[in-house]
Amino acid sequence: MSAAVIDGKQVAAQVLEEVGREVEQLKAAGVTPGLAVVLVGDDPASQVYTSNKERTARELGMHSVLYRLSATSTQAEVADLVRTLNRDPAIHGILVQSPLPKGLDMDAVVRLIDPLKDVDGFHPENVGRLWTGQDGLVPCTPAGVMRLLEAYGVDPKGKHAVVVGRSNIVGKPMAALLLARHATVTICHSRTPDLAETCRRADILVAAVGKLQMITGEYVKPGAVVIDVGINPVPGFKKRIRGDVDFDSAAEVAGLITPVPGGVGPMTIAMLMANAVKAARMQTG
Ligand code: GUN
Repeated sequence: MSAAVIDGKQVAAQVLEEVGREVEQLKAAGVTPGLAVVLVGDDPASQVYTSNKERTARELGMHSVLYRLSATSTQAEVADLVRTLNRDPAIHGILVQSPLPKGLDMDAVVRLIDPLKDVDGFHPENVGRLWTGQDGLVPCTPAGVMRLLEAYGVDPKGKHAVVVGRSNIVGKPMAALLLARHATVTICHSRTPDLAETCRRADILVAAVGKLQMITGEYVKPGAVVIDVGINPVPGFKKRIRGDVDFDSAAEVAGLITPVPGGVGPMTIAMLMANAVKAARMQTG
């Protein structure tokens, strides 16, 4: 292996420490940042994610509430809860865990969230702010990637960044953030011809496709920075997760690389906490 390995756990711990200090400052000024996490249904992965979010916020000293709605909840019931939380002055951040059970419309729920409380950065107003260079709440995972790049001294300015994946949660906001930092950005996806060839032109390669170990060393330019956003179960193993990048072959070629687990993953929750504090500041400052 030639690549240096990015330690996401360490950078996430730093972010959480900063956020904890900001929570204390806000509390001293009479504002306790409040985060509401809404879980609809009983998807096992979502249960783990939401309880981690609720617990982390509580450990940082925030007012943290997890709302559990049954899988048979109606669109109107979810909407009512969001409206109530929008009006609640003790709540500064609202996160509705995705995916919602079948039959419920996530986009409609997201549109109801007060954009100032939209700690996921999914509301169309925040999406528009991101693409037009206005301050707002930015999706947590791509924000976490930017933080990792910064922590390791990688300046996107003048670099060619290739983002593989075009989801609203990761691919598109990732491209917007890299563009805002003056990278030249290419967005690739499942229908891109000659994907490996395009990826090999990347100084910064971000993999967010959701396909286990699809990005091998053949996709990597020598010395490139490789960021793996994938979280994929490994068939035949109960608890093992791996990324979209085939770490061993990619690390032979890359200059700097994130592992899975321990790379981007820990950053997502840390940036959510940072967004909750930012939301509290925006609503009270
Ligand atoms: N499900 C998986 N990741 C996320 C996320 O970042 N936010 C929300 N709301 N749901 C998710």
